[in-house]
Amino acid sequence: MIPQETVQQILQAADLIEVIGDFVSLKKRGANYMACCPFHNEKTPSFSVSPSKQIYKCFGCGRGGDAVRFIMDLEGLSYPEALKWLAQKYGIEIQERELTDTELDAQNERESLFIVSEFAQKYFSEQLHSGEGESIGKSYFKERGFNESTIAKFNLGYSPSGWDTFTKHALKSGFKLEILEKAGLSIVREGREPIDRFRGRVIFPINNVAGKPIAFGARILKPDPKSPKYLNSPETDIYHKSHIVYGIYTAKNAIRQLDNCFLVEGYTDVVSLNQAGIENVVASSGTSLTKEQVQLIRRFSRNITVLYDGDAAGINASLRGTDLILEEDMDVRVVVFPEGEDPDSFIRKSGSEHFKQYIEEEGKDFIRFKTELNLKAVAGDPVKKAALIGDLVGTITKIPDSIKRAVFYQEVARLLQIDEQILINEGNKLLRTAKPQNHKTQAPIVPPIDMPEPNVEGLKQVSVEELAIVHKEDIFVRDLVLHGHEVIEKDEETQEDVTLADYVLHEIGETEFHVPVLGQIFELYKKNYDDGRLLDTSFFTRHENPRIQKKVVDWLSPPYSFSPGWDKYEIYVPSYVSKLDDLSYKNILRLKKEKFEMRYKELSSELAGIENEDDQDILMDQMTKVKKVIQRLADQLGSII
Ligand code: UTP
Ligand code: MN
Repeated sequence: MIPQETVQQILQAADLIEVIGDFVSLKKRGANYMACCPFHNEKTPSFSVSPSKQIYKCFGCGRGGDAVRFIMDLEGLSYPEALKWLAQKYGIEIQERELTDTELDAQNERESLFIVSEFAQKYFSEQLHSGEGESIGKSYFKERGFNESTIAKFNLGYSPSGWDTFTKHALKSGFKLEILEKAGLSIVREGREPIDRFRGRVIFPINNVAGKPIAFGARILKPDPKSPKYLNSPETDIYHKSHIVYGIYTAKNAIRQLDNCFLVEGYTDVVSLNQAGIENVVASSGTSLTKEQVQLIRRFSRNITVLYDGDAAGINASLRGTDLILEEDMDVRVVVFPEGEDPDSFIRKSGSEHFKQYIEEEGKDFIRFKTELNLKAVAGDPVKKAALIGDLVGTITKIPDSIKRAVFYQEVARLLQIDEQILINEGNKLLRTAKPQNHKTQAPIVPPIDMPEPNVEGLKQVSVEELAIVHKEDIFVRDLVLHGHEVIEKDEETQEDVTLADYVLHEIGETEFHVPVLGQIFELYKKNYDDGRLLDTSFFTRHENPRIQKKVVDWLSPPYSFSPGWDKYEIYVPSYVSKLDDLSYKNILRLKKEKFEMRYKELSSELAGIENEDDQDILMDQMTKVKKVIQRLADQLGSII
């Protein structure tokens, strides 16, 4: 359990723009920020973030909440995990105990995997700085030119060469063999002692987008034909190779700022470029690029520059990746390094200035790249030329944006000296036949969490009348939460301010709600009101209960928050009311009228029990006043029906 004060401290410190800005590229639009939603696949931004309200809302997929909710949804974390995430970001210390055996057992598997991965990462790091690790591992990194701060930045490590050094240590520290095996750190074999997966290798921890280690790449130190150069963690519940790129955590801010992502092949390319001050770089880690990896990068920028090693095999393997990038409506440029060089070796030889210049000069869009790559081969060979054109047109049709397609048709026409219209016709033919595939709706990056809308659910079996009631309830509670603190008028006698909350909550007893979440919100508001506190909206937008939170976030987001103009009714509207829409205004008037009608009834029953004529006069005078107010309210209500 995180102490309540710490929770408050975290909530205070967490700035939503900063938190979300770590994941998506936000563009300022008026008072708010907009972005492409990180929770579903979209090409035009419908994800809105309000810095003043500290809430986000996607008008495409409907997700919304505060900073904690954002981290929960994006990283798949629980509420306390998300708080811890934020605490770490803002350097807030959470007093945590050592985990006991039973607690370790109780952790669900994912959490255990995160814990054991972090444990392993720390262990490997420590090993690099002592004994065998220092003399063999660290000197290897030093030979490759990695300095201490680079080693620290990437948490590079070393796994000792013994058969089971790590496994023994982890078991002794309370981890179960089962989880060590599941995490891919230990290998369990029938009838034999378990052994370490990584032995006598330097370690590259692979982090998720939030910076948590989820897997490891382990490089052998001396070439050995019997053993692969790199050993990698197997797939686990927290590590899906095809969904992550190496270095995304260290790169994401730079990718967003520079609006470009360099994609390389190897771990060492990422590390080496970082040391040279180039941070917007990630690696596909030897596998061919996947759609999910492209989508991950696209959260931060629409531009990818693929940096190929200067060998033909690499180029051809990765060329397939460019179609994928185009399909995701991203722009891709391609740079090939000289024969025998990879980004790591090239930057060490030529320095970062020359490296940047090289990328600038050699970077080509994929059409020019493919064309120039094949130009020699197709010269004077019409059959090969036709095949290349077919290939290029095929690639162009992968681009969802028709304007971009047109530009590329032009370029191919120019480069290969062929009539542009022929290319377009060819492409359109392909598009027509490939339509269902090309325009399929892609699965969201994050599966929607189970958050059924109680009111929508409930509405299925309710009548029209009930539906109207549900709607009224919604407006009623919304106005209370959004405008409860607003002063409606001064009390005639005491001259004290009367707030909307006073109007609504005074004399209101137990109230039943059709929609449970509205009842919960109302209860919270009323309980606090009775204790002399007026809750503001942030109490709810920060609420741990996702239903309560989402309801109020929805209220605070357009279209709700855009009230229709009052002027159209051509009636005098006090300033407080201009913030409310017509229905809610009527609601308030009605409530107010009911309140005065009640008062009138009270007065008349009082009157029945009074003998003294003077007292009767006073009472009747009051009743006339009340009646007048009721009449005025009725008129007002009538005029806006
Ligand atoms: P490289 O052989 O280019 O590796 O493979 P590298 O990172 O540049 O390593 P150095 O410079 O020789 O130390 C590219 C990537 O392919 C994956 C790794 O992710 C590597 O970074 N790979 C390569 C493996 O997974 N296993 C292997 O046996 C080799
Ligand atoms: Mn290399």
